[in-house]
Amino acid sequence: MAFPPDFLEQLRERVSLVDVVSRHVKLQRRGREYVGLSPFKQERTPSFTVVPDKGFFHCFSSGEHGDVIGFLMRLEGLSFPEAVEKLAQAAGLEVPRESPEAAAQARRRRGLLDAIEAAAAFYERQLRLPAGRRAMDYLRGRGLDDDTIGRFRLGFAPGDSAALEQALKRSGFETGTLLEAGLLRLPEGAETPVASLRNRVVFPITDRRGLPIAFGGRAMGDAQPKYLNTPETPVFRKGEVLYGLAQARDAAWRAKEIVVVEGYMDAIALSQAGFAHTVASLGTAFGENQLRALWRIVDEPVLCFDGDEAGRRAARRAAERALPLLAPGKSLRFARLPDERDPDDLVRQDGAAALRAVVERAQTPVDLLWSSEVEAVRPDSPDRRARFSGNLLALVSGVRDQTVRRYYEAEILSRLREHFGVNLRPETVARRLAPSLPGGGRERGEARIAGLRERQMQSVLAAAINHPGLAVEFAHEIAELECAASLDRLRQEILRLAADGEGIDAGVWRTHFESVGLTGAVGSVLCEAVYSLAPFARPNAPAEEARKGMEQVFAAYRSAAIELEVAATAEADADGSLERMPALVMEARRSRARGGM
Ligand code: UTP
Ligand code: MN
Repeated sequence: MAFPPDFLEQLRERVSLVDVVSRHVKLQRRGREYVGLSPFKQERTPSFTVVPDKGFFHCFSSGEHGDVIGFLMRLEGLSFPEAVEKLAQAAGLEVPRESPEAAAQARRRRGLLDAIEAAAAFYERQLRLPAGRRAMDYLRGRGLDDDTIGRFRLGFAPGDSAALEQALKRSGFETGTLLEAGLLRLPEGAETPVASLRNRVVFPITDRRGLPIAFGGRAMGDAQPKYLNTPETPVFRKGEVLYGLAQARDAAWRAKEIVVVEGYMDAIALSQAGFAHTVASLGTAFGENQLRALWRIVDEPVLCFDGDEAGRRAARRAAERALPLLAPGKSLRFARLPDERDPDDLVRQDGAAALRAVVERAQTPVDLLWSSEVEAVRPDSPDRRARFSGNLLALVSGVRDQTVRRYYEAEILSRLREHFGVNLRPETVARRLAPSLPGGGRERGEARIAGLRERQMQSVLAAAINHPGLAVEFAHEIAELECAASLDRLRQEILRLAADGEGIDAGVWRTHFESVGLTGAVGSVLCEAVYSLAPFARPNAPAEEARKGMEQVFAAYRSAAIELEVAATAEADADGSLERMPALVMEARRSRARGGM
C-alpha cells in the first residue's frame, strides 16, 4: 500500500535515525556524523556512517545506503509497509489509511511502470538483434563499451511502428495502457496508434530508485529532431527528474560531489570516464526540484553546461533560479568548459584529467554572476557601473535566507569597493524600504514608483491567474510585492490557492474567485489595459514567456526598492563618500524607464 508522501516526511522527521540505528550498532560521534561497525558485513574498522542532518546511513564496505525506513527493512527483514508501521507506532503517529481513489491511482501508476519496464527490456533486446546492428555500431562509434551500454540499459526502437505494441500485447499489456504510458501515440486523425520512438537509439529515463519512467530517443543520422522524448505522464514529470541519478547516487555520496551536465550522452560518457557521479538535466531549464533533489546528496553540486552561448545562458539562468533557494552551506558551482565543447567532447578528446581540472576550477554563484554581468554591462563608465551594481544588488536581494543574503550583499559590496571605490553600506541595502521616508523630492519619486508598482502588481496577478503554475513557483515573490489595497484580497486568495498546490487549473481558479466575490478585482487585472502593457500576462502567452515577464517585474521591483534606499542614504548622509549616488539613482531610473514598467 502507498503512504502519502507528507506522512513519510513527517515520520522521517519524527524518528531519530541515530536512535534506531543505535539499537543495532554501537555508534561513535565524529563531527556531524556517527560511525560504527557495519551491521551488514564482518569488519574490524568501522565503515558504517550515519549522517543525522541528511537522515541517511551509508555503509562503505557493502555499499548499502538509505534512510531510517530502509535501515529497518534491511536489518529486521521487514517489508516497506511493515517498517513504516513499526516506526509510526514507536513515534506515536497514526498511519493514514489509503482512500479507495488513492489505491486506484497507485494501481494505475504501477500498471504504467510495469509497461514501461517491459518496453525497456524490449528495446534492450532489439539492440542485440540483427535489426539493432546499426544502433549498436552507433553507440560503439561514440565510444561506449558494453558495460556502460548495459548499466544505462541503452536500447533500440525499431522502425516498424507496430513492433513494440505487438510484443507488449503478447505479454498481456493493453493498448490503452501503452498509450497512457507514452509508449504509443495516436497521430491526429488516425485510428491506429504508432510507437512514439522509431528507428532511434533509446535511453531509458529512470526515477531515483532506478525504475524506468520514460524514454529519450536519439536519431542515428541527421533526422530531426535529434532527440525525442516520450511525453509527460502520471509517472514522468520533467522538471523533477535528473537523468542517471539512480546510477550516480552511490558514487556521488562517496565522492561528496555531483556533476550536472545537459545531455544524455554527456552523462553516460562522463560516467564511463570515471565520473560515475554525473547526472543530466536533459536540456530543460535546471529547476528548483532538481536542485533540492541534489542537495539531499551533496552540498554543492557542480553544473557543467556546454561551452557554447546556450550553455552559458543556461548556467546564468540556473544561478538566478538557485539564488532564492540558497541556504547556509547549500549552494552550487559552475564549471566553465572551453568554447564550443560539451563535457562528452572534452573527456573523449582530452581525457578525464581535463574534465577534473574544469570541475576543480568551478566558479561560485557570485563569481558567475559578477563575470556574466561584466560581459553584459561592461562597467567602464560611471553610468554603467551604477547600472552594474544595481543589477547585482537586485539579484542578491532575492536570496530568501537572511544570513546567506547578508553575506552575498557584503561580498558584492566589498567587490564594488575594491573595483570602483564606491562605498555602499550593507545596512542601507539590506534594510527593506520603509514606506514613510522624509523629504519632499523623494515623496514625489515614491508616488511615481507606487504607480509603477500598481501596474506591475496588476500584470503579475494577471499572469498568475492565467498561469497558476507560475503562481506556485513565484509565491514568495508575489507575497513580497507592495500591493494596492484594492488588489490585496485577490493577491491573498491567489497565494492561498497556490499554497494548496495540487490540482492547479486556471479554469478552476477563476470559478473559485467568482465564488468568493472577487469577480470585480479579477476583471480589473484581466483586461486589455493590463495586457497591452504586459503581453506576457495574456492567457495565451507561452508559459516560458510569462515566466520571463514575471522575473523581469520582480527584478525591476527590487532595483526600484534599492534605488530608493540609496537615494534615502544619499540625502541623509552627505559625507562625500556617496557623491556618486545621484548618478546611480538616475541610471536606475533610466533603465527602469527603458524597461517600460
Ligand atoms: P545537446 O544537443 O547538447 O545533446 O542537447 P548532446 O547530448 O550533446 O547530444 P549529442 O548526442 O552529443 O549530439 C542536450 C540535451 O537536450 C535535449 C536532450 O536531452 C539532450 O541530451 N534535447 C536536445 C532534446 O530533448 N531535443 C533535441 O532536439 C536536442
Ligand atoms: Mn554532445
